[in-house]
Amino acid sequence: MSNSLRIGIAGLGTVGTALVRLIQEKQEMLADRCGRAISVTGVTARSRNKDRGISLDGITWHDDANSLATSKDVDVFVEMMGGEDEPAYSAVKSALQSGKHVVTANKALLAKHGVELASIAEAEGLLLNYEAAVAGGIPIIKVMRESLTANTVTRVSGILNGTCNYILTRMEQDGLTFEECLKDAQELGFAEADPTFDIEGNDTAHKLALLTSLAFGTAIAPDAIYLEGITKITIEDIEAARDLGFRIKLLGIATRTAEGVESRVHPAMVPLGSEIAEIGGVTNAVAVEADTVGSLMMSGPGAGGDATASAAAGDICDIAKSRPGHQHGPALGQPANTLTPHERAPMRSHAGGYFIRLTVVDTPGTMAAIATRMAEQDISLESIVQRRTKDHDDIEQAPIILITHETTEQAIRNALDGVRSDGRLIGEPQMIRIETLG
Ligand code: HSE
Repeated sequence: MSNSLRIGIAGLGTVGTALVRLIQEKQEMLADRCGRAISVTGVTARSRNKDRGISLDGITWHDDANSLATSKDVDVFVEMMGGEDEPAYSAVKSALQSGKHVVTANKALLAKHGVELASIAEAEGLLLNYEAAVAGGIPIIKVMRESLTANTVTRVSGILNGTCNYILTRMEQDGLTFEECLKDAQELGFAEADPTFDIEGNDTAHKLALLTSLAFGTAIAPDAIYLEGITKITIEDIEAARDLGFRIKLLGIATRTAEGVESRVHPAMVPLGSEIAEIGGVTNAVAVEADTVGSLMMSGPGAGGDATASAAAGDICDIAKSRPGHQHGPALGQPANTLTPHERAPMRSHAGGYFIRLTVVDTPGTMAAIATRMAEQDISLESIVQRRTKDHDDIEQAPIILITHETTEQAIRNALDGVRSDGRLIGEPQMIRIETLG
């Protein structure tokens, strides 16, 4: 076919390599389905000579991303390099300014520069597709951007990081340490180049920032997200959660409230047996609540080369099926200049139940003092359990676990300040919010 769509891929890591392989292996099927051939004509990556198990014969090697992005032999620039700034930012911008459609898996880049890049794409009549940037193989961007246009969304939430879900699942199922599980996730190609982005929650926050904008028509605002990662979760928390009928998940949640948008990423207790609690390993899940459709939940592989390449290939095929002169829908679901400012609801007004794990000195009156501090803040307790006392450095230490009924973040923080000031606490309290999704 003479009018083949010519693809330039920048970045040949796990996902970029899987995408080249997919396009090569399914060449005929893709041509039939799109009505034209799709061929990779150019690539660039950090190392030219690395053996990636794919053939780059007949593909032009570019020494830098900008040269590929502006090459006359490329119709679509596919950005798989990652990183919120250079070289990805300039390369994507140059590609759009040179009249090329863009497909990217880079959530960090879009979280920071997405509104600007979407505006350029709109002005140039080009597609900026980023299905692979959120929740790996789950086609949630298409759903939010296109299928739910007639809905008012009230909440979007989910498990958005495969690495964290994999770590929490294996810690619980196999009794492995956090470090062992992270190493496995890295070896399996799930983790970011810098895995602190996974475990500290930044990767989830980048994805949530994009979903929030699509859900509420607000400017992308990654800095307005309350953020806690999973590094402080211990095996004791996981066991206590299970004993009390919960499982710990790293969730991203954005809710429309009277005070603005409440966006948060943090470990949460979800009830055992609920749909979200059953999402294990590298699987992601995204739940949407909207007025017309009701509740939706989609789950599937959230990371890994093939799953993410599947999403990017779908984006490329959409471009292959479109025709020159055809008007493309806006990248952020509505024209970029109609996005409203993101009004951030304060975290202190968040309402919900809480799990609190404290280690205290085992002396008479300790339990009563804790209960008093909770009562002072009008916090109603669902349960309070003292687990077996341990003797440590000649001090009798008692782990105490509290589950509260619905209260506010401010009340919990005040109560814990009160408990601290009573001087019976050993170490810092663990506080995990309880969520019921799906
Ligand atoms: N590191 C990410 C994850 C990859 O573990 O989910 C997909 O963005």
